[in-house]
Amino acid sequence: MSYNSRPSNMERITTPELAEKFIAEQLDELRAQIGDKKVLLALSGGVDSSVVAALLIKAVGKQLICVHVNHGLMRKGESEQVIEVFRNQMDANLIYVDATERFLTKLEGVADPESKRKIIGSEFIAVFDEEKAKQSDIKFLAQGTIYPDILESAGVKAHHNVGGLPEELEFELVEPLKFLYKDEVRVVGLALGLPHSMVFRQPFPGPGLGVRCLGAITRDRLHALREADAILREEFANCGLAEKVWQYFIAVPDFKSVGVKDGKRYEGWPAVIRAVNTTDAMTATIEEIPYPVLHKIVDRITSEVDGINRVVFDLTPKPIGTIEWE
Ligand code: XMP
Repeated sequence: MSYNSRPSNMERITTPELAEKFIAEQLDELRAQIGDKKVLLALSGGVDSSVVAALLIKAVGKQLICVHVNHGLMRKGESEQVIEVFRNQMDANLIYVDATERFLTKLEGVADPESKRKIIGSEFIAVFDEEKAKQSDIKFLAQGTIYPDILESAGVKAHHNVGGLPEELEFELVEPLKFLYKDEVRVVGLALGLPHSMVFRQPFPGPGLGVRCLGAITRDRLHALREADAILREEFANCGLAEKVWQYFIAVPDFKSVGVKDGKRYEGWPAVIRAVNTTDAMTATIEEIPYPVLHKIVDRITSEVDGINRVVFDLTPKPIGTIEWE
């Protein structure tokens, strides 16, 4: 990451026209920097890496090699969207690595949250490095660094992005968004033709569902979590909350309670709904979800998701509760 600052006279990118101007300037600069060499990018499908990918595809086409590592902890449909948008629609050079088995095997029996994060982070780097080693003649590494990342790493806020890559000494960095704020990245992403759902995606932690499948991750509970989370997202989209609430998701603890289904005892896990609003993720308040929406979500999750027999709503603000449960 380079540590210079945003030029004081740099205009805030707020309109499609300003985004087009930024894109045109970047295309010239990127082509001049990269020439006919190859660039590698870890493409998570998050807003920043997606916008960098779209920009570089426009600038240097197939000289960009995108690597999408599916760690098995993505939300429902996420890796599929990356493949659809970048490989099918944008005709990008995309390497898709399904590393699900590898991650879940490493995580088996590991209950401690910090250990889980460390395993996910180091395994991610290992998988990416292996893909890098299979390529020849890579000269550049692209990264979706944005301006708040630079400000945070300069000491404003402790950063815990374990999904991040280590400092690169081997390659020259390409960081076209490094002076942009998040809202500007979104305006640029839309101007580049990325889908609205990708550009306005809520934040998603690097370790993904790994920090929401609480305690030692099991495949059946992870599956239940992914399905319940998809229902929550669908219902939030249906009632307009998806665009309003800053972050919302399901966490599934590793204990069961007693329930009854079809006249029989039915032990299942609880699904915990978290829906918070914040500006900087340092503090957060709770979204007041209308009761009819909550009831619908409870009905759907308990009837459609195998293994879940209760749904509870976490009303705890940050502080004292962090946004994630782990
Ligand atoms: P907490 O749980 O600390 O989360 O209140 C604050 C924000 O950071 C996100 N988060 C992460 N993001 N890698 C990330 O990229 C991580 O390891 C990580 N842990 C938490 C969290 O989702 C929330 O938006």
